[in-house]
Amino acid sequence: MIFHGLKGITCTETAISHIDGDNGQLIYRGYDINYLTKNHTFVEVAYLLWFGELPNQQELNWLTNELKARRVLSDSTKQLIKLLPEDMDMMSVMSTVIASLNTATFNQMTEIEQSMMLTAIMPSIIGYRKSVQKNYVIDEKITEDLNHIEYFLHMLTDKKPEPTHVKALDTYMILTIEHGLNASTFSSRVTASTESDMVAAVTSAIGTMKGPLHGGAPTGVLDLLEEVASSQNSVQLIEQKINSGEKLMGFGHRVYKTTDPRAIALKEKLIDMKGNDEWLDLAMNVEEITIDALNRLKLGRGIYTNVEFYAAAIMKAIDMDPALFTPTFTSSRVVGWTTHVMEQAENNVIFRPQSTYIGKFLTHV
Ligand SMILES: CC(C)(COP(=O)(O)OP(=O)(O)OC[C@H]1O[C@@H](n2cnc3c(N)ncnc32)[C@H](O)[C@@H]1OP(=O)(O)O)[C@@H](O)C(=O)NCCC(=O)NCCS
Repeated sequence: MIFHGLKGITCTETAISHIDGDNGQLIYRGYDINYLTKNHTFVEVAYLLWFGELPNQQELNWLTNELKARRVLSDSTKQLIKLLPEDMDMMSVMSTVIASLNTATFNQMTEIEQSMMLTAIMPSIIGYRKSVQKNYVIDEKITEDLNHIEYFLHMLTDKKPEPTHVKALDTYMILTIEHGLNASTFSSRVTASTESDMVAAVTSAIGTMKGPLHGGAPTGVLDLLEEVASSQNSVQLIEQKINSGEKLMGFGHRVYKTTDPRAIALKEKLIDMKGNDEWLDLAMNVEEITIDALNRLKLGRGIYTNVEFYAAAIMKAIDMDPALFTPTFTSSRVVGWTTHVMEQAENNVIFRPQSTYIGKFLTHV
């Protein structure tokens, strides 16, 4: 029996998160995501994943300061970022920079210190690369007091972060911080299972995250929305796409067989933020048409809206450049990856599935 794409196969135990795909529930270390987004921040949830408990005030202050202290890029990293080809995409920049980190120093740090460092520098890599491309200088006086999410937003947009935008990004980042054995997390665990280091595991994960079927989906959602907005007959357009075998970005999920709870939470956040908004109306309309068409044309496949659909909308609402959508997803998911790498090490068995040979058997004379 062959399980293509390892569909439906359980290959490890985890205490990090639980996905109930039939009932649309996602839990991190015992807490429902809706409780966490309403009552806690991204940094608190990062603490929860790494340490297993939510932080008290003192622990939160400690982590906030650790992230601030570790986000400074070294001169050699800055130099590398400047040297990379001007048209290299941000995900490739991120994986190159992470892969270049000095493992001699890194491996002397504890795994938690490495996790904090990898999480802290993601916004700096993105922001610094952007400043090089657009030829401006980041004012470190303005950024030094900002907390992790404010700093991130500043680095993404080079603007003073608006509180509503900070809250929206924080919500998005909590909702995408962790999600079981998705493709990129699996890839980080496979690398960790060879007893390779955390830098290598995160580098593998970034490469996996880049693909349009995983972290690259939000950019595809924007393209879809723009195409629908300029079409004469949106129902016909969506039907044609489905009939020609195209995968519509922002729909379908390997585990959820109902609406992704993260999509519901993001949609609520957007409605709170935006009220009546032309673009949000377009997104909701495309969602309705697409779900209706998928129900008719892909009957019984259980395809619903996934997190990426409203992720694209929320990132657009905070004026983010679409090229930074996947790097933003990466910057939250790095917390999940590092947590999984630590969990893998606790009870390691190398991942090594098998394949069935379907090639030739040649006889030699
Ligand atoms: C996420 C995803 C890879 C899950 O894939 P999966 O569980 O392996 O499901 P499959 O690819 O086997 O699809 C099952 C059926 O549903 C269809 N389907 C699944 N997602 C679809 C989508 N987004 N649009 C159109 N059809 C879709 C497939 O074409 C297939 O149809 P078939 O049975 O006629 O061949 C897939 O739904 C997808 O590519 N979605 C779009 C990308 C996306 O939004 N990714 C972000 C995920 S959070």
